[in-house]
Amino acid sequence: MTRSVKKSVPNGFLAVIVIMIFVSGIAAMLISGHKLNAAKNTSGTLSVTSNTSSGNSLEGINSEAISPNAFEEKNNMPSDYRMITVLNDDIYKGSLILVNYQYESHIDGENLINLYDNISASVGVKDDDMLINNAILKPINDFFDGFKTEKGATTILISSSYRSKSDQTKIYKDSVKETGARSTTYYVAVPGFSEHQTGYCFDTALYNSYGEMMELDGDGDFKWLIDHCCDYGFIIRYPQNKTNITGIGYEAWHFRYLGIPHAYFISEHKICLEEYISGLKNYTFDNGGLLIDKGDKGRWIVYYVPKLEAFNNTDIPVPVSSDKSSYTISGNNVDGFIVTVDVTKDPSNSMIGKAKTEWMCNSAALEIQGFEDYDPEQDSERYANSDDWESDDFWKDETSSSDETSLAETLESRFEYEDYYNGYDNNAADNTQNNGDNNEYD
Ligand code: DAL
Ligand code: ZN
Ligand code: ZN
Repeated sequence: MTRSVKKSVPNGFLAVIVIMIFVSGIAAMLISGHKLNAAKNTSGTLSVTSNTSSGNSLEGINSEAISPNAFEEKNNMPSDYRMITVLNDDIYKGSLILVNYQYESHIDGENLINLYDNISASVGVKDDDMLINNAILKPINDFFDGFKTEKGATTILISSSYRSKSDQTKIYKDSVKETGARSTTYYVAVPGFSEHQTGYCFDTALYNSYGEMMELDGDGDFKWLIDHCCDYGFIIRYPQNKTNITGIGYEAWHFRYLGIPHAYFISEHKICLEEYISGLKNYTFDNGGLLIDKGDKGRWIVYYVPKLEAFNNTDIPVPVSSDKSSYTISGNNVDGFIVTVDVTKDPSNSMIGKAKTEWMCNSAALEIQGFEDYDPEQDSERYANSDDWESDDFWKDETSSSDETSLAETLESRFEYEDYYNGYDNNAADNTQNNGDNNEYD
């Protein structure tokens, strides 16, 4: 649902331009529990929307009540901003949605296109039927073109992109069987809770000297991808040292698109998406929002707008002039919307002076019980020695350690996905030996 005022309303994003008067009667509306549409005749609030369930016309609406000035006086709305209305269900859409162990993907891909047909020659793709969100195709192509320019041609390829819930189910079950519950817990999202279901991310891989496909480890030349992905709007979604928040071990190969300002901010502050989405709640339109200033590269104001629980719709302040400031709105997949205003060409935008630059987030509150002891360094050392993969002990250690049980239990109770463990779990290592041919991508 991300969009720009420079374009006409695209792609099924349902919000439509609205002239809106926010009234003192809002409290009464909340108390009465009326939906916005039902309330507006009596309250004087006008929402011109084409997306409401009760119809799209202005019939019955007291249009005489429309007065942008009245709004400004009551709410100190700056003259270079106005209100639009969006559907609350749109919190589940857009490039900033947080999908993790807690927040399921409500979408099954959005605006998917075939990757193979559209990908730059600078990077390979594993299969010809892979799909990706159309909005991130150009950033992907630019990213790998940049990589090729810097590092020369490589055999790098995109090994996974959009995955349906049933794709993820297969990967999940295979992983439990082949690598055990502990490894699966750390590297494979429970079906329905995988970011891959959104179409906003992809995995990278290489063929090693044995012709086996290996997930990218981020070493050597490939460190460039990690260091520069933010220039193209991507983050390493599962960074080192954030496992106790993301619930996922370090994945040097998994890139998530957020858009340039957000990727910059996250990489600069060494935070993960969970921290970003949570911390952004401290930055609202009323308190000035967050200023992301990258000098020559651009300048943005970002603010969070909680969805109005009592209604089907939420009113969102956006800039008036599309010539000066363009904006995008994305849901956060939790409880509201995030507005990103590009003020690069609008130095007098009224939010610039008010916005904060310091970052506030209560990261401790986001830590997951049961994941604190995980040491990605130690884990990757174990995996790095490929000879170990052949030994029974390697797998036995992993799946019989006491914290494996507690982690599995944690996951099990958290998601109520017992069926994925039944029959596999602790016996996994005895059933299957992994020969190091790491063909299962997650
Ligand atoms: N590997 C990531 C966490 C997934 O399975 O979605
Ligand atoms: Zn991935
Ligand atoms: Zn993974």
